[in-house]
Amino acid sequence: MADIIGKHTIKLESVDSTNNYATAHMTNNNWKEGTVVLAKNQKKGRGQINNSWESEPGKNLLMSVVLYPEFLPVQNQFILSKVVTLALCEVVSLYASNVFVKWPNDIYVGNQKVAGVLIENAIMGATLYSSVIGIGLNVNQLKFESDAPNPVSLCQLIHKEINLDDLQVQLNESIGKWYLKLKNNEIDLINASFENKLFRIGEVSDYEDSSGVFSGVIMGVSEIGQLKIMTTNGVLKLFHFKEVAFII
Ligand code: BTN
Repeated sequence: MADIIGKHTIKLESVDSTNNYATAHMTNNNWKEGTVVLAKNQKKGRGQINNSWESEPGKNLLMSVVLYPEFLPVQNQFILSKVVTLALCEVVSLYASNVFVKWPNDIYVGNQKVAGVLIENAIMGATLYSSVIGIGLNVNQLKFESDAPNPVSLCQLIHKEINLDDLQVQLNESIGKWYLKLKNNEIDLINASFENKLFRIGEVSDYEDSSGVFSGVIMGVSEIGQLKIMTTNGVLKLFHFKEVAFII
């Protein structure tokens, strides 16, 4: 199981978005679980909430992994984010230290974003049917043009070019390993490992929500993926994505 990720890999020179490509082709072509779409260039790389994803051709890892987590109840789908971000943290940590998950699923090194994840799930009844896990990992790019906040690449961090094929193999293995833990129902281990990697957990920091700026401490993430922040006034607030901003 741990080696199913990337057993079948479709390598593209250029595509609009690897997530779009996977979504368009997976069903008709009966793609197996673990199929990976890899592209050197994306003309319309997509980020969270309609943002675009910047990537200089040939410099970074741009991939989508197809999974069929039919065992996963819809309300538990955030655990897929945990699995994938844990795998990314594990691989990025081979090259850099201070690696965290900035909720919900950005990978940070220190205060800078090195990778983003865009998960697109299809639901059938009460459970998931399929999941397209899009990953953009900044590897050898040295200049970022977009207004994305604090982008950084591994090469900028360690001042060395990294072989994209090697990195791909490491990431496939790590995703397979963490996905297997999910299939084996090792939920407590996944949750504890995720909390351990959560950016700013347990630290007093500033945040902003619809009522303004406040100080608080991240306590963890609820089962449905809401961020839990205990304000310094002792109120526990739960946020969905985009309802709260981190003040960095
Ligand atoms: C984000 O942080 O906003 C998520 C970025 C996800 C980017 C990746 S690149 C590969 C895959 N294809 C896409 O169009 N997006 C994801």
